[in-house]
Amino acid sequence: MELDPESLPVRERYALMIASILPRPIAWVSTISPEGITNLAPFSFFTGITANPMSVCFAPVNNREGVPKDSLVNAKATKQFVVNLANEDNAEKMNETSAAWPYGVSEFEKAGLTPVPSLRVKPPRVKESPLHMECELLQIVTLSEGPLGGHLVIGKVVHFHCDDAVWNKGKLRHQDLKAIGRMEGMWYAKTQDAFELPRPEIDMTMCDKLGKETK
Ligand SMILES: Cc1cc2nc3c(=O)[nH]c(=O)nc-3n(C[C@H](O)[C@H](O)[C@H](O)COP(=O)(O)O)c2cc1C
Repeated sequence: MELDPESLPVRERYALMIASILPRPIAWVSTISPEGITNLAPFSFFTGITANPMSVCFAPVNNREGVPKDSLVNAKATKQFVVNLANEDNAEKMNETSAAWPYGVSEFEKAGLTPVPSLRVKPPRVKESPLHMECELLQIVTLSEGPLGGHLVIGKVVHFHCDDAVWNKGKLRHQDLKAIGRMEGMWYAKTQDAFELPRPEIDMTMCDKLGKETK
């Protein structure tokens, strides 16, 4: 099968993307409106960018009517957000917070989740998550406006929290965090079936200055 994405309806492109880019980590993003109302929603178009500065990004897409996600509106207005880790223990609550409540309704309340004050930013953290990254907005890159228009929200992590129960002296273990990944359709992946693969090492004594093999 050969496909030109431009020849497909946007929904089919989306279906192909979520079935091809997987498993995707989930940023469970808390924000706050200028009026002080909290908001919480999951985003799996999410990744870390670099450790210098420690930075992450997620991609809220406008709905079919072109209305931007509340998380985007709040991040734009207040320039802050928190990424909470979604895992096996909070998966169902995380999913509940993806419901399209109108702007101004707090998913913390709707899903019965506990907001905990952050240390460096105004949006609260989710107590039911073991790991939180408090972020200051660096940039919003808008790829397209209107229906299903996409934005990349980039943030600098200004504070990092980890529950003592999983901290393990800074050597975080996937066996303890029990993170989940988003797959195609309504499928999720667990991360307990992991395997190790050491990185290849090159013997530099076998190479000359130009990097060519000498033997
Ligand atoms: C696991 C999961 C991942 C999601 N990932 C995204 C995403 O990457 N981008 C997006 O726009 N919506 C995504 N959604 C849908 C949003 O969570 C949903 O539209 C939500 O209502 C947005 O809330 P907000 O308007 O309060 O920001 C995802 C939903 C789930 C359950």
